[in-house]
Amino acid sequence: MAGAEQKGESPEDVSRRRFFTLMSLGVGWGGVVATLGGIGAGAARYMFPSVLYEPPTVFKIGLPSGYGMGVDTKLKKERQVWVVRNERGIYVLVAICRHLGCTPNWFSDQKLFRCPCHGSIYDPHGNVVGGPAPRTLWRSAISLDPVDGQIVVDFNLRQDPDPVGTPEGLMVEEASREVEPYFLKV
Ligand code: FES
Repeated sequence: MAGAEQKGESPEDVSRRRFFTLMSLGVGWGGVVATLGGIGAGAARYMFPSVLYEPPTVFKIGLPSGYGMGVDTKLKKERQVWVVRNERGIYVLVAICRHLGCTPNWFSDQKLFRCPCHGSIYDPHGNVVGGPAPRTLWRSAISLDPVDGQIVVDFNLRQDPDPVGTPEGLMVEEASREVEPYFLKV
């Protein structure tokens, strides 16, 4: 007799049986809800796949007039570059050590970049003057935006005048580096 109390059951037995019946119903529905939730989450993930947003590799860094003589470090953290102006124009050094990829620091009093990892030292041109780095610092391609006149950096288009494999390469003739698109005569 469904739903009826069984013969010989005390009121405590009946309430215990009802409790366990309700519990099992709750667990059952909970499982259904959890399963549907999992399916819904999977569908949402399919519709909105996780995308890794990398910072753009081509970006503007302002007008040439915003950069004075010497090494400007203000973009090192955000863009991983130093902007350098000399008597002839502007170039952009990539702030990645050519040894194992750490970020060197600029010491204006010494006029040197020093890498904190293994002690590589570079001059303001990017030439290696000490430590284990085997190659000069890269320079990124730069141009002037024809509309607003800002410097546009193409971070991944890099000058590498002494690529791995060349017999000598720690000191590179500066004139060979001050060429378009790696140098702006501004
Ligand atoms: S990574 Fe710069 S010296 Fe090793």
